[in-house]
Amino acid sequence: MGSLPSEAEQYERIRTTVFQSAESAVRLVAASIARLMWKRAAEGRTAVLGLATGSTPVKLYRELIRLHRDEGLSFSNVVTFNLDEYYGLPPHHPESYRHFMEVQLFDHVDISPENIHVPDGLISRSEVFGYCQEYERKILATGGIDVQILGIGRTGHIGFNEPGSGVDSRTRMVALDRLTRRDAARDFRGEENVPAYAITMGVGTILEAKELALLAWGESKAAIVREAIEGPQIDTVPASFLQRHPNCQCYLDEAAARELTRFRFPWKVGPVDWTPSLTRKAVVSLASDLHKPVLRLRDEDYAENGLATLILETGSAYSLNIRIFNELQHTITGWPGGKPNADDSNRPVPAVPGQKRVLVFGPEPLDAELGMAGTLHRLRGHQHEVTFAYLTSGNLGVPDNEARMAISLLHELSADRPMVSQGKDRLELLSDELEKKAAFDEDSRVLRQFKGLIRKAEARASCQVLGLDPSKVLFLDLPFYEKGRYRQFNAADEDVTAVRELCRRIQPHQIYLTGSGAEPGSVSGISFRLVVSALEECAGESWMKACQVWLYASGERPWSPHEIEMAVPLSPAELAVKLDCLYHHRSQRSQTPFLATQSGESWQQAENNNRSTAQHYDRLGLAEYEAIESFRCHKDAESRFS
Ligand code: GLP
Repeated sequence: MGSLPSEAEQYERIRTTVFQSAESAVRLVAASIARLMWKRAAEGRTAVLGLATGSTPVKLYRELIRLHRDEGLSFSNVVTFNLDEYYGLPPHHPESYRHFMEVQLFDHVDISPENIHVPDGLISRSEVFGYCQEYERKILATGGIDVQILGIGRTGHIGFNEPGSGVDSRTRMVALDRLTRRDAARDFRGEENVPAYAITMGVGTILEAKELALLAWGESKAAIVREAIEGPQIDTVPASFLQRHPNCQCYLDEAAARELTRFRFPWKVGPVDWTPSLTRKAVVSLASDLHKPVLRLRDEDYAENGLATLILETGSAYSLNIRIFNELQHTITGWPGGKPNADDSNRPVPAVPGQKRVLVFGPEPLDAELGMAGTLHRLRGHQHEVTFAYLTSGNLGVPDNEARMAISLLHELSADRPMVSQGKDRLELLSDELEKKAAFDEDSRVLRQFKGLIRKAEARASCQVLGLDPSKVLFLDLPFYEKGRYRQFNAADEDVTAVRELCRRIQPHQIYLTGSGAEPGSVSGISFRLVVSALEECAGESWMKACQVWLYASGERPWSPHEIEMAVPLSPAELAVKLDCLYHHRSQRSQTPFLATQSGESWQQAENNNRSTAQHYDRLGLAEYEAIESFRCHKDAESRFS
């Protein structure tokens, strides 16, 4: 390590580099691992790698595989130790970490099987302690781990060291946190299928590696990443203990870094260029912190809260307050498609054309509804031509019991009514496939198709509530999703082509999409990128030049008013319509009612987000609405960190 942190990094206790994308970050990490491997090979020694699982390192492994294939990087001198394994899963289980590592890395490189170490999830309970000690002895016998790759769980775990894990903890058996199990529920097709225990290297074991590389992508990690990097070292956030390591480096994409002080409050870490967006951010956060409406902020409020330079540069609190108040006011519109025949100089959407072609993309069914069902309803009510394109079928998100119910219904129907009897064979095939598979098994092709139909039926019903024209509700069933599974999606040209051709056919005046801050390997992260690629290919076309591209908020967190460029208020009645629409996605309700009461169903979260945005506007001194859906321009979102 070496140089001291820069002024901007002064709050950070782990050396952190922020990259524009996960791809650029992993190229750097992979290159440094490759250098180590080449150096060791030249010396006739082994390189010992500590490996992690989860979505985060997937791109890193793909880059290592590329280096192996294209640049002759050999793994013949590599020994690996994985951090953890689910307890109770056999190695061939599709969700076991052993299987994950084989599919993601080992099967594609020339590593010797005897050099691979992944904790054994089937070790008998009485042997676990001795087994874990032996795992540590094996690490020591190799001379210790040279580089340990780490992801971070939303609980702040590294490996499976959940909150409560001490800094001296060693390799052992642990119980998984509720949030961790919930995050793994999709992989296991239901929270109830996620193992309750795991074997993991301890925090102390991890800290003994010579070098640590902590990776995190996507805004869902931003809050915990900040705690780990800037917070106190505390066992409620085990990743914070990485601060103790003399050679730990953190690699983030912009979305995962967004809560770090240098991005969240850049004026706290040094002089800043007071751009319009940064100014708005500072005023909104000052008003929010002081619980004051914008128009009541005084010069002293700015001066006493580290914003004296802002007042110096803008003259006075009085003029600044009015300017920001007006900016916020102008984001609010009940006319998301533009208000015909009105002065639009201070409106987010142009008045012309009065009737617009609108194209809304939903990564999976329910995503767009959570973000903008009220706005969709309004756009339709204002007679715009709305096309709603579901990019993927979402079949992986349907629990078996939903499929079972639908099959039972069809069985009854086919017993009574001969006209559907030709469908009977298919029905029996479905029934058989469903019943013969174990709870964790992957679904067959037919079963996935059937589950996709369930989601389509739900989606159609929910669109009906919004008054959308059924012929304009499209299901693209993009191949990347149909061919893949969670953590293993690979978008290709055919996906981009399908989106591009739809855009060209519709030539929309407005496009709505989501996912700019999502984890890059997630369905919404992949969907975002491929829509953006498709739009880039259309860049020169006349319709595209006039097209506004709006991002809607994901269900993850409410946006602060300073991030919002269009705020669409919902009346109590419109909020009720939105909820009615959301409820039709019944297969997506939590499968564990107990957990649902802890963290809320997705529709409750969307309702809370929309209400809390409205309350935030209200507290800033703007009008008081029941709920607000929020949007920002795609272009501006891109440059937020520049
Ligand atoms: C998992 C693993 C961790 C991983 C973390 C984050 O449960 N045990 O090693 O870092 O959770 O997972 P992801 O990368 O999918 O977000």
